[in-house]
Amino acid sequence: MSYYRAVGELPPKRHTQFRQPDGTLYYEELMGLGGFADDSALLYHENPPMSILRSERVDGPTAISRPNHPLLPRHYRTRQLDGTGADAVLGRQALLANTDVRVSYFAADQPSSLYRNAIGDECVFLASGSATLETVFGRLSVRSGDYVVIPAATTHRWVPDAGEPLRALVIEALGSGHIHPPSRYLSPRGQFLEHAPYCERDLRSPDEPLTVADEPADILVRTRNGWTQLTHGHHPFDVVGWDGGNYPYALNIREFEPITGRIHQPPPVHQVLEAPGAVICAFVPRKFDYHPLSIPAPYSHANVDSDEVLFYVDGEFNSRKGSSIEAGSISLHPSGFIHGPHPGAVEASLGKERTEEYALMLDTFQPLELCASADRCEDESYAWSWARHRAGSTS
Ligand SMILES: [Fe+2]
Repeated sequence: MSYYRAVGELPPKRHTQFRQPDGTLYYEELMGLGGFADDSALLYHENPPMSILRSERVDGPTAISRPNHPLLPRHYRTRQLDGTGADAVLGRQALLANTDVRVSYFAADQPSSLYRNAIGDECVFLASGSATLETVFGRLSVRSGDYVVIPAATTHRWVPDAGEPLRALVIEALGSGHIHPPSRYLSPRGQFLEHAPYCERDLRSPDEPLTVADEPADILVRTRNGWTQLTHGHHPFDVVGWDGGNYPYALNIREFEPITGRIHQPPPVHQVLEAPGAVICAFVPRKFDYHPLSIPAPYSHANVDSDEVLFYVDGEFNSRKGSSIEAGSISLHPSGFIHGPHPGAVEASLGKERTEEYALMLDTFQPLELCASADRCEDESYAWSWARHRAGSTS
């Protein structure tokens, strides 16, 4: 994140003596990106954050993948992976992965362990339910439709609310770099520009510190080597204040203001975030194109340099009419495959004035490989679903 925020108690000048009520010093922690050359946050702990008592190897979710070969478009019904008793960290089921990103699904009804991803940022898109995200920066209430961006190295845990399961698609950045708003949306100094489809007022982040009783705490840490459980001597939620431009935040898909035109607008107008080797977009309810001869359905296209993933969240998915796509579905349209609307969808779109769909799109610039959980929920008939088309057919 790029714009400055300050929460809780802070000394007037950084890296100076800042004392607790008993006269002892607070402990500074700088969470800085890019080796002190990029955004950072400066946090003030009551206790030393580096005090660890134990380190143990842990078996966490893995993502063994295989190439999409022979090449096929894919359809996954993620709701088939739902169960009970899972949490938002260890309950992740890997679907797709390449060297830049890993895409997982979870349906969580239990609080997670304390967790720190040391590899990269995470974008967790919530498809249903609500939760409290507890972090060293404070609490953040999150709900269905939120893109929740959690910077690398942020210690946090997920606490789902009672009721509908917390279902989510998780995009983990694996390459160097971070998940952030597209540079073209920002001024040279990081303010959202007028043409951006959302701005600072739409972003939510913790607004008061979260401190709990001091006690040792187990934290799951994910690195490129696997999962480790570090037992800290002090609970990580002991931060009385922080400031800077690197912190978790949420943007709800319903706050994304769609950009429309007289004729069909290309996917980059729907972009929300960018990650190393990937872009993340939002399709939201919007008015269709208003040229008198416009074709509201998208044109067929060969996404030459990217694999395209769509996560269908809610509403009507007009371009997939006649396929078995439903809420919770994921389609993968890989590079090398020409994809477009399903038979009859173009004709059916003529004269329509608006769409009510909600969907997330992820485009990756390296081919995505397929993980075992994807195999478990695949609709194997999807690849052939366009072949029902007959010349002149309108249905
Ligand atoms: Fe596409």
